[in-house]
Amino acid sequence: ECDLELLLNGALAPLRGFLGRSDYEAVCSGMRLADGSLWPMPITLDVTEELATSLETGDQVALRHPEGFIVAALTIGDIWEPDRRYEAEQVFGTTDPVHPGVDYLLNHSHSFYVGGIVEGVELPPHHTYRELRHTPAELRSLFRERGWERIVAFQTRNPLHRAHFELTKRAAEQADAKLLLHPVVGRTSPDDLDYFVRVRCYKAVLPQYPDDSAMLSLLPLAMRMGGPREALWHALIRRNYGATHFIVGRDHAGPRDAEGKPFYHPDAARELVREHQTEAGIELVEFEEMVYNASADAYVPRSELPAEAVVLNLSGTELRRKLRSGEVIPAWFSYPEVITALRQSFPPRNRQGYTVFFTGLSGSGKSTVAQTFMAMLMEEGSRPVTLLDGDIVRTNLSSELGFSREHRDLNIQRIGFVASEITKNCGAAICAPIAPYRSMRRQVRKLIERYGGFIQVHIATPLEVCERRDRKGLYAKARAGLIKGFTGIDDPYEVPERAEVVIDTTDIEPDESARMVLQYLIDQGYLVARP
Ligand code: PPS
Repeated sequence: ECDLELLLNGALAPLRGFLGRSDYEAVCSGMRLADGSLWPMPITLDVTEELATSLETGDQVALRHPEGFIVAALTIGDIWEPDRRYEAEQVFGTTDPVHPGVDYLLNHSHSFYVGGIVEGVELPPHHTYRELRHTPAELRSLFRERGWERIVAFQTRNPLHRAHFELTKRAAEQADAKLLLHPVVGRTSPDDLDYFVRVRCYKAVLPQYPDDSAMLSLLPLAMRMGGPREALWHALIRRNYGATHFIVGRDHAGPRDAEGKPFYHPDAARELVREHQTEAGIELVEFEEMVYNASADAYVPRSELPAEAVVLNLSGTELRRKLRSGEVIPAWFSYPEVITALRQSFPPRNRQGYTVFFTGLSGSGKSTVAQTFMAMLMEEGSRPVTLLDGDIVRTNLSSELGFSREHRDLNIQRIGFVASEITKNCGAAICAPIAPYRSMRRQVRKLIERYGGFIQVHIATPLEVCERRDRKGLYAKARAGLIKGFTGIDDPYEVPERAEVVIDTTDIEPDESARMVLQYLIDQGYLVARP
């Protein structure tokens, strides 16, 4: 996808295709291609074993866009089964799956690699921000047209605030160069902001630079978060786009482990680029952290800070908290246009979408409570409401599914997908399936929390009570062996470890249960209490 586009447009030169085996091994072990030229990142095409065994060296295969048309032709050089753990160790320095690059490599890529030269047929189309996308040749010719000779590139996957603005402006002045803002819009770190929001921020900051001193171009790169090797790779790519200088800061493209500790030493990326800058053909501009000196109302490099200065700082977490709660973001921190763009994507809780996910045994009271709760939300009226009750879903969305583990998981996955779309669009989704498996519930939570609230309500009515109620007569049938694999009887129900609300409906009316859920939403700020 991203790699292929960059291979075709020349951004990964001298590479002309996916690495063959000897190049791959040389890159993994020594950061060089087999011919000795500097190349820190394996660019590989992974395929299933099944596909690999059906291919032969010399074959020409079409690489297609998901929409079906042919993007490129690949002439197959090597086909082999790589040691991906070794690759992870060498390239990322770890096999810890918390590292996003490692996770992708070990858990989401296929076990065989296919190397070979690619020839472009049709570049994949972009439907967004076309005016901000350039091939290396286009960007170089733009630089020529403008008479720009020295260009310092700035890599980013975050929105720009004043500190970044001051830093990039200074870096450009220091290098006596023009500035290329070159944000990554391919794959970045999983919890980064989507690029639409970021591009709005970049566009808002651009006019702050002096005339004819800065340019914005989007880079469809799939980041690996590989720290030092990634920084060097970024530098080579920017060289190909015509930059003469490249800014590298502390912990460039470095992820954090489960304890929040960085995987790489904060200086490692800078050191590696410094060591190779001559050979890479691009000069390193070391970026010093800029801090806000409140006493002087100015940004300065940390090293130039007067001893008595009062420094103000706003962490990413604190910024998100302020955005969510609708608090004022101080003007020293960012530009009003940037804050407006961010506010759009971090609406305060009372305007965010959410999913209330009821789970529990058959007959526990899920549907009744869900329906009562839905009626309350309809009366409250702040958001459109959709009820995805077990029966509704099994009629409209999952009519072909049965009750095997596989089918149940698929059913919940579909419910989760629909609920995530509703949540994304700021609505309220109410789901009420049994959802007996923890891992799938967790997956749904993860998906939905990207867009808004996920409130799991465990209807924890004991099995005896559900069975005593047996409104549909299903428990009797299950006990008689007429239904096989009935949840709670001869099929598992994994009790949620982390439910926001737990309700046992044995002695509680549906109204009261629904009010407990409503109160939770009020307490969490999703709904505003009415007098
Ligand atoms: S799941 O596991 O989440 O996919 O189940 P769900 O879609 O909620 O469907 C549960 C309803 O299907 C009826 N039913 C069964 N339940 C459990 N196990 C088996 N084998 C089974 N066969 C049919 C049952 O009526 C459930 O409805 P509720 O509303 O939960 O009582």
